Amino acid sequence: MRIPLFDLNYGEEEEQAVLDTLRSKWISTGPKNQALEEQFAALLGAKSAVAVSSCTSALHLALRLAGVEKGTEVIVPSLTFVATASTVLMQGGTPVFADICSKDDWTIDPADIERKITDRTRAIVPMHYGGFGSDMDRINALAKEHNLIVIEDACHGPLAERGSKKLGTIGDFGCFSFYSNKNITCGEGGMLVTDDVELAQRAKHLRSHGMTSSAFERERGKEFYDVVEFGYNYRMDDIRASLMLAQLPKLRGDISRRKELVAMYRSRLKNTSTLSIPFQNHEGDSAHYVFGVLLESADRKVVMKELKERGVSTSMHYPPVHQFGCFNEYSCELPLTEYVGEREISLPLYPAMSEEQVDYVCEQLLEILSA
Ligand SMILES: Cc1ncc(COP(=O)(O)O)c(C=O)c1O
Repeated sequence: MRIPLFDLNYGEEEEQAVLDTLRSKWISTGPKNQALEEQFAALLGAKSAVAVSSCTSALHLALRLAGVEKGTEVIVPSLTFVATASTVLMQGGTPVFADICSKDDWTIDPADIERKITDRTRAIVPMHYGGFGSDMDRINALAKEHNLIVIEDACHGPLAERGSKKLGTIGDFGCFSFYSNKNITCGEGGMLVTDDVELAQRAKHLRSHGMTSSAFERERGKEFYDVVEFGYNYRMDDIRASLMLAQLPKLRGDISRRKELVAMYRSRLKNTSTLSIPFQNHEGDSAHYVFGVLLESADRKVVMKELKERGVSTSMHYPPVHQFGCFNEYSCELPLTEYVGEREISLPLYPAMSEEQVDYVCEQLLEILSA
């Protein structure tokens, strides 16, 4: 058996969507972007959504709109993808790393955030690990007390909830990725979500060089543009937006299937002393983006290699960001993040996965661990 870490849920709908866009001859940012933004905002119950080229662009725009600049600090997790922290550097700010809550809850620890707030702190960027929501009540309360902006890195959690609110709509901004291994994807893409309609409009200018009108809007009668502030090219093209429009209706069903698969994994692996499974007591509804476990005593490299030889692809989420060479000057000690970072292994998870495939992965893993 060959089992990939992830597989796309693509079919004829995506092919037809791209074909329609190609035939319409409007392939840059246009009507498909507009439809996607409206549908995404409605799905999440947010006032506005701005489609962009990646989550990295969305995070960068949010940090800029939050007023992050040289001399300001932003509190970020380290058990995340590097972009959660490198976008702070893009704005000239200083990333300050906070630890995760526990060996069971791998989201950012509000108590550690509180310890790290200074006069220079401008924003907090919780990342909802694996689609499990961070403790947004406590994070928002800290933000309110210290006048900080909260930017949710919600890449792993489209449609997931914490406290009956959708992840990405609980802080000031929510940032999503549509990179190829995400729950819904168009290869490369992202979304910035906010209830602040004026800031969303500014984000639309910033994603396109600071211009006050787009080619599509001018085609529809809007006047020629002014450039009101320097911006970027962070646009999503309509080919990708049409792929996303085909993906959106699949999201809810895909998450339900992921949930079933995770339940199978958990029941088959629960009595194994050599590994532990996180998020046993989590509040809220996850999007189940990855299924990670901790190898408590085995050598991770060996286990990953042996699984690969038996046809099972695995990965690591994540090598801690504060331990990367690029972040040497921000180094610190984060005992729980380092513990998880050394032992985590992500097992295959995707909607088309079968029960037999889950069985095979678990049998192989348990056999390797018992050897
Ligand atoms: C948690 C997290 N943040 C940010 C990103 C960056 O997203 P993108 O590749 O769309 O820029 C990713 C993507 O892998 C991610 O998983």
